[in-house]
Amino acid sequence: MSSTPDSKPTATQADASNPYYKRHIFFCVNERSNGEACCAQHDAMAAFDHCKGQIKAAGLAGPGGTRVNRAGCLDRCAGGPVVVVYPEGVWYTYLDHADVDEIVVSHLMEGQVVERLLLAPDIGR
Ligand code: FES
Repeated sequence: MSSTPDSKPTATQADASNPYYKRHIFFCVNERSNGEACCAQHDAMAAFDHCKGQIKAAGLAGPGGTRVNRAGCLDRCAGGPVVVVYPEGVWYTYLDHADVDEIVVSHLMEGQVVERLLLAPDIGR
């Protein structure tokens, strides 16, 4: 669907101002069997499950709330385990479920970036 200068906003434009989900958090849960660094080595799946439970318990799941998704490799493995929160595009690393809880409360509920868990900008694969 497209628009001309005199037409109504397209469905895409309308969705951008009123997104189905307010935020997405993606957990890399990628596992490598060749011994290379991967987020699965850091129990990323358990962290994902924990986050999903916290979001549900807080009543944030569903339309207008936060969607918690698994992801394959996000290509920042050296800083793993990693998550990324959109629409802000903020990358985090975490050590345990308490760190995940801090991301949930501070960022996903209150919109405040958790500075101490930010992934360094130069971390790649
Ligand atoms: S394995 Fe998680 S970012 Fe690559």
